[in-house]
Amino acid sequence: MRPAGAGRLLPPLFCKKGRHRMDYKIGVIPGDGIGPEIVNEACKVLDAVCGKYGHHFEYTKLLLGGASIDACGEPLTEETIALAKGCDAVLMGSIGGDAKTSPWYQLPPSRRPEAGLLGIRKALNLFANLRPAYLYEELRAACPLREDISAVGFDMLIMRELTGGLYFGERRTEVKDGVRTATDTLTYNEDEIRRIAKRAFDIAMKRRKKVCSVDKANVLDSSRLWRQVTEEVAKDYPEVELSHMYVDNCAMQLVMNPAQFDVILTENMFGDILSDEASMVTGSIGMLSSASLNETKFGLYEPSHGSAPDIAGQDKANPIATILSAAMMLRYSLDLDREADAVEAAVRRVLKEGYRTADILSEGCTLTGTAQMGTLIAERL
Ligand code: IPM
Ligand code: MG
Repeated sequence: MRPAGAGRLLPPLFCKKGRHRMDYKIGVIPGDGIGPEIVNEACKVLDAVCGKYGHHFEYTKLLLGGASIDACGEPLTEETIALAKGCDAVLMGSIGGDAKTSPWYQLPPSRRPEAGLLGIRKALNLFANLRPAYLYEELRAACPLREDISAVGFDMLIMRELTGGLYFGERRTEVKDGVRTATDTLTYNEDEIRRIAKRAFDIAMKRRKKVCSVDKANVLDSSRLWRQVTEEVAKDYPEVELSHMYVDNCAMQLVMNPAQFDVILTENMFGDILSDEASMVTGSIGMLSSASLNETKFGLYEPSHGSAPDIAGQDKANPIATILSAAMMLRYSLDLDREADAVEAAVRRVLKEGYRTADILSEGCTLTGTAQMGTLIAERL
C-alpha cells in the first residue's frame, strides 16, 4: 500500500467498485489534449484484463504538464514524483497544448508542459525508451510507402536514450557582441552509452538478434564515443549482429527499406526524430506505443504521439497507441506476458474486423470514435 500521508491524493479515477485486493499500483497521468480520452480507453482495456484474469489494479491519478500548471502552477511537482515512485508503473496519455494559443506557452520554457515530461523522465531515471514500430497487415492500405515496400512489412524497435544528450545538456540564450546567440550542448559519457547499449543488445537477443546503432560519427565527438562503447558492449553479445548507420542515411533507409531493421539503438534527439518517422510508416502515429524504463522493473508508458489539441474532446483520437502502451506495461513492469499478448491480439482482431479511427481509415472499413474503439478492444479480450 502507498504510505499514508504521501501527499494530496486525488480520488482514483477509473477504479471499479468491489475490489478487495490491490495487487498492482498503477499511476495514471491523463495529461492534456486528447490525453484523458485515450487513457480512459486504455484503463477500460486494463479493467477488462482484470476481469478476465483476476488481477487487481489500483489507479492513482497524477498531474503532469499543462494540467499540473493549471492545478499547481508548475508542470511537475514533488508530489507527482513521490506518488509515481510509489507505483509499480505509470500510464500516461499526452501532455502539451497548442503553442500558438495556449497560455502555457507564455511561461518561460522551464515552466511549460514539456519541461514536466522531461523532468519526470529525469527524476525517475527513465533512460531507456522503447518504441516498437510494426506494420500490421491490416493497415497496409494506410502505409504511405510504395506498395512493393509495404508488402514486405517490417517489425522494428527503436531503443532511444532518454535522459541525456541535447535534451539535458547546458543551454543558454544570450547577447554576444550585440548578436542574439543560443547554445545547446550534446554530452554523453561512456556509462550512459553502455547502459542503453546493453538494453538494446538484451532485447535484440529476444528478437532477431540485430542491432543497428545510429549516430553521426562523421561529425560529432559524442557519436564517435557512442560507436566505440557500442562496439565494446557488442563483445559480450557474440550472437548479435551489430551494424552502424549515420542518422541521415537511417532517415532515408526507414522509408526505402524498413524491413532491414530489427533493433535501432540511438541517442535522445535522433531517436525522437526517427521514431516519429518510423511511426508514420506504420500507417499512423496513433499506432505507436512506448515504454520508458529505468534499471528496475518500473516504467512510464505512453503513446509516442502528442496531445493533438486540435481534436481534443471530440472522440476522434486513436486510443490504440495508448492501449498498446498499456500492453507494454503489463509485459515489462508487471510480468504479465499472457495478458499483454491478449491485449495485442484483441487490437489485431478489431483491426481485422475492419474497425478504424479516422487516422487509419481506408476504403471498406468502419469508422469508429475513440470510446467505441476502446470498447471493441476490451470486449475482444
Ligand atoms: C516524444 C515527444 C517529447 C520528446 C516532447 C513532447 C518533449 O516528442 O516523447 O517523442 O521530444 O521527447
Ligand atoms: Mg517526439
